[in-house]
Amino acid sequence: MNLVLLGPPGAGKGTQAKKLSDYYGIPHISTGDILRAAVSEGTALGLKAKEYMEKGLLVPDDLIMGIINERLEKPDCRKGFVMDGFPRTINQAEGLKKLLDEKNTKLDAVIYFDVPKGELIERFTGRRVCTRCGATYHVRYNPPSRGNTCDKCGSELIIRADDKKETVEKRISVYEDETKPLIQYYEKEGLLISIDGTKPIDEVFEELISLLRGEK
Ligand code: AP5
Ligand code: ZN
Repeated sequence: MNLVLLGPPGAGKGTQAKKLSDYYGIPHISTGDILRAAVSEGTALGLKAKEYMEKGLLVPDDLIMGIINERLEKPDCRKGFVMDGFPRTINQAEGLKKLLDEKNTKLDAVIYFDVPKGELIERFTGRRVCTRCGATYHVRYNPPSRGNTCDKCGSELIIRADDKKETVEKRISVYEDETKPLIQYYEKEGLLISIDGTKPIDEVFEELISLLRGEK
């Protein structure tokens, strides 16, 4: 199963990608997680990406395509993948198509998470992420069971560096300008499945699974 999750920042892509990855036994590929790891390790990629990420801007397409090209070469991708946060521009979508064509494969579905802007802001202010394993929580909608520590690995939870109010607003406007056109792009390709992302996390997941099984 080759899946792409599309939607505004904070729509729940990462949350559902982790669940889909467990359910189908396919890797979760998040360009945001890969970039954040590169920034914290201080690699050449991380140093370049940091200046864009902290301003809420997109990292240049050539760097992103390099990451994806390398990631898709790994053997675990033979079973499929769930991509979260990629592609984010028409150019990246064309790049992905080319890479998949070369491997004689294609996307099965692109899931679009529909969440209005007002709701997104509340999701950012309450989001907490694990410093070690990347698990994501929300103080109100998905709280950790033990204070400010991760249920999965016990490490400290923090607020993501780009979840500041000004950066969040920039990220949303960059999404509107550069990523939103992908909805129409994938609709034309006959791949788009829209989902109401405002429902509780488990309900969104159940709906996703039945849509992917072709039950709805
Ligand atoms: P990235 O990490 O991809 O961030 P994003 O797309 O902005 O998305 P988020 O991770 O903020 O949100 P999400 O949709 O995953 O929501 P989540 O599940 O966490 O990118 C970060 C930066 O990296 C970019 O700004 C850019 O600079 C760079 N970058 C990355 N990829 C790139 C690319 N391809 N090209 C160029 N640059 C790139 O949920 C949010 C919160 O809501 C959580 O607290 C969660 O617990 C809660 N929640 C989730 N679902 C629900 C629900 N149904 N109900 C209530 N609460 C919910
Ligand atoms: Zn953790």
